[in-house]
Amino acid sequence: MDRKDFLASIGLSAATFALINCVGCSKNSNSTSGDTSGPTGIDFVLDLTATANASLNNNGGYLSTNGVIIARSMSGTYIAVQRSCTHESYGLIYQGSANRFYCANHGATFSESGTVTNGPASRSLTTYHTQLTGTSLRIYS
Ligand code: FES
Repeated sequence: MDRKDFLASIGLSAATFALINCVGCSKNSNSTSGDTSGPTGIDFVLDLTATANASLNNNGGYLSTNGVIIARSMSGTYIAVQRSCTHESYGLIYQGSANRFYCANHGATFSESGTVTNGPASRSLTTYHTQLTGTSLRIYS
């Protein structure tokens, strides 16, 4: 009896089994997909009037979504880089007052343009374009 037959015998489909397996498996807030390169081919829009995106209305604010950190620099410019550290993919944070992205795992830092400013990371972050139209912020490759 293979897994599919077993699941059928107890009244579960493979999809139901997969769903049950995923319940409670959410990772901590610094987990990423394990990808150190960042997503490719992205193109999405954030509504800056939405409560979930309110942090982007203040200089130094940031949020993470779709594998990307979107930040508003201290000078009011929107910047977007991959969320995962290029060292071992730990989730980065933005530190506006220091004009940098920081990895708390081993201490790597990156400039706002994604360049490594402190190791052990050795590869720059993937950066993305941002375009503000009214209150809509587009982030794209
Ligand atoms: S995972 Fe970021 S510095 Fe090691």
